[in-house]
Amino acid sequence: MAERVEIMLTEEEVDSRIREIGEQISKDYAGKMVHLVCVLKGGSFFMTELAKRITVPVSLDFMSVSSYGGSTKSSGVVRIVKDLDEPLEDKDVLVVEDIVDSGRTLSYLLELLKDRGPASVKLCTLLDKPERRVVDVHVDYTGFEIPDEFVVGYGLDYDQRYRNLPYIGVVRFD
Ligand code: IMP
Ligand code: MG
Repeated sequence: MAERVEIMLTEEEVDSRIREIGEQISKDYAGKMVHLVCVLKGGSFFMTELAKRITVPVSLDFMSVSSYGGSTKSSGVVRIVKDLDEPLEDKDVLVVEDIVDSGRTLSYLLELLKDRGPASVKLCTLLDKPERRVVDVHVDYTGFEIPDEFVVGYGLDYDQRYRNLPYIGVVRFD
């Protein structure tokens, strides 16, 4: 079976949207420092591009969570694989994710981070599939709302592949 990736969002579209979000975040956090929390591995490409477009002071930290179960479906049970290096006390935390799908991962994660005493916690996601939402999650910054398709690229994988694509695409099997 041949496998190909059909482009959904071009590199230019993604880059220019990240610029816009960076500008918005810079305005919203004026006079503050923003602490970006990247959810590995998928959020890493988005977070580095976004960080470059933010003009207020930025600090970064990384965490990795994994949901038990299959690669294309989130089971709702979340395990911390790698925790943050720094405490969150009094920080203005902005969680940076690749995609919000069912919302299970993020709703779990946001509650966990809020318990660590940050000044604020907001969520920024490159992609959102609103049709798929099972658990309500408030998203503060969204790159693109997309239809219910399994997408790859810009950090998103299919079985660990395609993360390095500079655009967002859909895997098609012909
Ligand atoms: P949620 O808990 O269902 O919102 O799923 C979140 C995680 O599932 C994301 O952080 C991704 O790692 C993965 N995921 C959901 N949809 C896609 C997709 O279309 N492509 C690749 N990974 C996805
Ligand atoms: Mg992810």
